Amino acid sequence: MAAQLQLFFLCIFSFYSGFLQADHLETYIVQLHPNGITRPSFSSKFHWHLSFIHKAISSEEDSASRLLYSYRSAMEGFAARLSKLELQTLQRSPEVIAVRPERRIELQTTYSYKFLGLNPTANGNAIGAILKSGFGRGAIIGVLDTGIWPESPSFSDDGMPPVPKKWRGICQQGEDFNSSSCNRKLIGARFFTKGYRAASKSLSTDVAVEYVSPRDGQGHGTHTASTAAGTPVQMANVLGNGAGEARGMAPGAHIAVYKVCWFSGCYSSDILAAMDVAIRDGVDILSLSLGGFPVPLYENTIAIGSFRAMERGISVVCAAGNNGPIQSSVANEAPWIATIGASTLDRRFPAIVQLGNGKFLYGESVYPGKGIPNAERKLEVVYITTGGQKGSEFCLEGSLPTAKVRGKMVVCDRGVNGRAEKGQVVKKAGGAAMILTNTAINLEEDSVDVHVLPATLIGFDESVLLKSYINSTRSPMARIIFGGTVIGKSRAPAVAQFSSRGPSFSDPSILKPDVIAPGVNIIAAWPQNLGPSGLPEDNRRVNFTLMSGTSMSCPHVSGITALIHSAHPQWSPAAIKSALMTTADVTDHLGKPIMDGDHPAGLFATGAGHVNPIRAINPGLVYEIQPMEYVIHLCSLGYTRSEVFSITHRNVSCHEIVQKNRGFSLNYPTISVMFGPRMTGKMIKRKLTNVGNPNTVFSVDVMPPDGVKVRVKPRQLTFTHTNQTMSYRVWLMSRRRNGSEGTNFAQGSLTWFNSRQRSNRVRSPISVTWASK
Ligand SMILES: *[C@@H]1O[C@H](CO)[C@@H](O)[C@H](O)[C@H]1NC(C)=O
Ligand SMILES: *[C@@H]1O[C@H](CO)[C@@H](O)[C@H](O)[C@H]1NC(C)=O
Ligand SMILES: *[C@@H]1O[C@H](CO)[C@@H](O)[C@H](O)[C@H]1NC(C)=O
Ligand SMILES: *[C@@H]1O[C@H](CO)[C@@H](O)[C@H](O)[C@H]1NC(C)=O
Ligand SMILES: *[C@@H]1O[C@H](CO)[C@@H](O)[C@H](O)[C@H]1NC(C)=O
Ligand SMILES: *[C@@H]1O[C@H](CO)[C@@H](O)[C@H](O)[C@H]1NC(C)=O
Repeated sequence: MAAQLQLFFLCIFSFYSGFLQADHLETYIVQLHPNGITRPSFSSKFHWHLSFIHKAISSEEDSASRLLYSYRSAMEGFAARLSKLELQTLQRSPEVIAVRPERRIELQTTYSYKFLGLNPTANGNAIGAILKSGFGRGAIIGVLDTGIWPESPSFSDDGMPPVPKKWRGICQQGEDFNSSSCNRKLIGARFFTKGYRAASKSLSTDVAVEYVSPRDGQGHGTHTASTAAGTPVQMANVLGNGAGEARGMAPGAHIAVYKVCWFSGCYSSDILAAMDVAIRDGVDILSLSLGGFPVPLYENTIAIGSFRAMERGISVVCAAGNNGPIQSSVANEAPWIATIGASTLDRRFPAIVQLGNGKFLYGESVYPGKGIPNAERKLEVVYITTGGQKGSEFCLEGSLPTAKVRGKMVVCDRGVNGRAEKGQVVKKAGGAAMILTNTAINLEEDSVDVHVLPATLIGFDESVLLKSYINSTRSPMARIIFGGTVIGKSRAPAVAQFSSRGPSFSDPSILKPDVIAPGVNIIAAWPQNLGPSGLPEDNRRVNFTLMSGTSMSCPHVSGITALIHSAHPQWSPAAIKSALMTTADVTDHLGKPIMDGDHPAGLFATGAGHVNPIRAINPGLVYEIQPMEYVIHLCSLGYTRSEVFSITHRNVSCHEIVQKNRGFSLNYPTISVMFGPRMTGKMIKRKLTNVGNPNTVFSVDVMPPDGVKVRVKPRQLTFTHTNQTMSYRVWLMSRRRNGSEGTNFAQGSLTWFNSRQRSNRVRSPISVTWASK
């Protein structure tokens, strides 16, 4: 629902902006027929692309000044600045197959490696394969983000192997960045400004330093790159909290950064340009911690660029988005992309509020409370809801009257402005401490932040208690007791409240997200000129900070993908994704179901489960998918020939394909079925490829979804040799006549067990939805 609303607004906006000013220039991504360049008169694709602009623009203007990017690997076509009229002229060319307006996309804003079992000292056997792979040795992860802080100790190249021979990337020079910024860890760096410049007219902002180079002025890209492949750093901590070794998931892998995100966002023409060149540079994995609400596949340039990347054997890993718990909010949901949701760790940073009446309220915060005099002192508490400026309950800039907050502990509701920013506002107004209170939207989710004054964040239940205490007491008092870092005391992993949920908006037959991975309170590298709160006023200096979001989950899986890639260099992106999904955990560390708030998590929150790198290295069997099978899948979904063409660059007759492939099922590692009003059953085909030992027997075990009968044939698969493929069929029969009984959703699973080694299991969740009449 929300997704449709958002698309609706985008449409209205672009309509009016074009309508009001006929000669106003906008950025468009123009897709061309790949075989369109027939006349030999063009010496290159670039000249061919220029010729379209030349024909379309009436003035004597230089066409090259209008061409932003010329694409050939991620997509066939170019990005250009055009007026509505020029666009109409251009669209008349038969070679033009699609035109998409520029889209602005947002970022989806250590210990986590130990949590995932990747501790090299832990247990020798299980980790053998990863050791043998050299922790991702030789793999190249391309990170599309805000750039990188190359001097961070996380990007030291101590012990790194030489740059792989196949690497063709560069270390692009720019503001405070030159070739000596790269090394054997950071092997490539580029930046893409044209789409952003065209949209915002300038690169300089007053907000903070925006380096016109691959250097990271925001911190997000430094954080995500180090999560994927950061070099181990001892005694990493955030102002004394969370101290321990920090390292990426694949410390043996190389990093190539593509800076596509600037202060005002990430623009689709820049993202596509980065994917275009990254494919040629020779990356093995693309990591994109960005997205928003879902858009149809044929409008989605990330989906289109990823298809080409996948055809070249490059795995594309993307954030699912931070729009949970709204249903169908999962973004980046193309079936050839690995879509990653967020989970919590079992690490807590307690900062407990003790009220004047002796009661305790649990809260969390990263503040070096023990080290700072008076940080824990008792103060008067104020919650300013009236009498101040508008928005004082949220502690908006300029809303707090100094006379009322000076020297006090100020209560601020979560929402509207940034959490760390609220602390800055309280501090500026003369407040001495802050209690951030969750509202009914965030419930009990703790997103811990680094604050510029003593502060804590409490859940919704606690905030109700706090406010009624304040309301009923003449002179309410409180103190915050900082508890440092506590590990292993809480139940985890659980689904993060903000993690975007399925079912997939564009393709409900594919269960999304694919897996979840740690994304709450993740400690990773941080620019050395930025304070840990990320606020421009914060002049504390750190090498690490804490961030939360599916932005943080995505690079965990990008790193694990590098581990699998270097252990099995010949595996396709589909095989690697299958390994990640079929071995994922469905229970938490207590062996109980993974929770989502106060209830067990459903498949639309977890996908196949919580990623388990140790098991993913040796899955035994994989669900392989050839690029052409995605094309058949799109045709079966009812996409038109031209839509399929613009997504996949393959010109096929969908009519013929559907005729020839009756009853086709995409060989996806999860099973997702929708029963229409009069449907009683559905048959699904799958095929498994043996990537383990020869002479292995697997038997099936089914947990049928409620109200569904499941039959599998055959019930045993005997693989005599490695690389052998075997098929099976699943019949799902609804025992409900219509969707009116109980809920319209049920879930189960289908698991193949290795008969000799039952711990080797290949699990596929089954989701069933009954369409409402
Ligand atoms: C490159 O940058 C480094 C460190 O910022 C500086 O010492 C060096 O002189 C620069 N080299 C060139 C060629 O600009
Ligand atoms: C505080 O008390 C007032 C009046 O008694 C009431 O209207 C309000 O809802 C209370 N607020 C909270 C947060 O308890
Ligand atoms: C950050 O790392 C650098 C290089 O390893 C080190 O010299 C510096 O002391 C570190 N800074 C902090 C605040 O730990
Ligand atoms: C696709 O192929 C058909 C039949 O071969 C042809 O008529 C059509 O022009 C092609 N379309 C594109 C976009 O290439
Ligand atoms: C399996 O196939 C891969 C890729 O085609 C090949 O590299 C590998 O050697 C094969 N393994 C066996 C045991 O045949
Ligand atoms: C089907 O739906 C109708 C209307 O909601 C309901 O009255 C009927 O009982 C349902 N049929 C069955 C077999 O459950």
